[in-house]
Amino acid sequence: GAASKGEYRHFMLKEIYEQPAVISAALEGRLSDTGVLVESFGPEAAALFARTRQIHIIACGTSYHAGLVARYWLERYAGVPVQVEVASEYRYRYPVVPEGTLFVTLSQSGETADTLAALRYAKTLGYIGALGICNVPGSSLVRESDLTLMTRAGPEIGVASTKAFTTQLVALMLFTLALAKCRDKAPLSADEQTKIVQALKTLMPICQQVLALDSEIETLSQAFAEKHHTLFLGRGAHYPIALEGALKLKEISYIHAEAYPAGELKHGPLALVDSEMPVISVAPNDDLLEKLKSNLQEVRARGGELFVFADENVGIHAQDGIQVLHLPHIHEALAPLLYTLPLQLLSYHVAVLRGTDVDQPRNLAKSVTVE
Ligand code: G6P
Repeated sequence: GAASKGEYRHFMLKEIYEQPAVISAALEGRLSDTGVLVESFGPEAAALFARTRQIHIIACGTSYHAGLVARYWLERYAGVPVQVEVASEYRYRYPVVPEGTLFVTLSQSGETADTLAALRYAKTLGYIGALGICNVPGSSLVRESDLTLMTRAGPEIGVASTKAFTTQLVALMLFTLALAKCRDKAPLSADEQTKIVQALKTLMPICQQVLALDSEIETLSQAFAEKHHTLFLGRGAHYPIALEGALKLKEISYIHAEAYPAGELKHGPLALVDSEMPVISVAPNDDLLEKLKSNLQEVRARGGELFVFADENVGIHAQDGIQVLHLPHIHEALAPLLYTLPLQLLSYHVAVLRGTDVDQPRNLAKSVTVE
């Protein structure tokens, strides 16, 4: 039957709240105590992953941002060079495909015209195979890929993608671990692999803890309702999370939002910072923290108002001009997933305050099946 919003005011909010459950669905039956079950990707997967020397990832929109996160993971943990590109660019250029390259598409719907066209084009270019990571069983993308992994997010109705994105990240972490397992010289030790697997198994309760911050995020959202511009900052794998945060805000609140890697601030965007442009940053506990902290000081020094989502252990506290929301500590590898949630909620509440059509933003479609 038709999907229902139940107790929720919008599908988007319902789908944000479904994330702990669908994230565990995406993991179900795919992990042992120490690693990922490579067969989850299909019977041919182990042989294909063992031969993989590089990866090209193609997607659009939010799915593209998931691909950008995966690049950090795949290079760091599996030691495989990765390129990520939007499908509408890839399909019209003449990409060089080195021997042993695996083609990967990411798509919620499995019907995005540019992504499908890219897949069909890639088949003429000599890749060793095509892996499709997708949410809709039986979609064109699934039918036309050699290997598939379903993200199991369930039907997503809100045009702004939420649970489809976080389950893509789960799938991409599984892919990273599977690849590391099948390759001889992956940087990830067996010990670290086990730690990430254990951390994956605690995702559900940690995501629930973050969703419990909803009313605090709602309070923060009031500072954005009257603004015209916002800047999102992140470093490393959290740069794509900043991009996704900015995309969510644009899509549903119609506020202009840009994302920058925090280290690029002084190469341009700092010129825009003043009290009228709030700056949002995610600050997980990783080895880029000290660098991020000094970037945040640069913003404060120009009178920029900061909103920081920070690990509870990193010692970033609220002070004049800096509002801080603390998130529970999580294994560094999974932090991009967790830090997505408060940014989704922030956009949601800003949009509600501005009275936009949250589930059906103007000019946008859930699935772009024509070019
Ligand atoms: C549209 C949707 C986005 C989505 C993008 C790619 O623009 O509004 O939410 O990220 O298409 O869709 P796909 O189904 O391929 O992930």
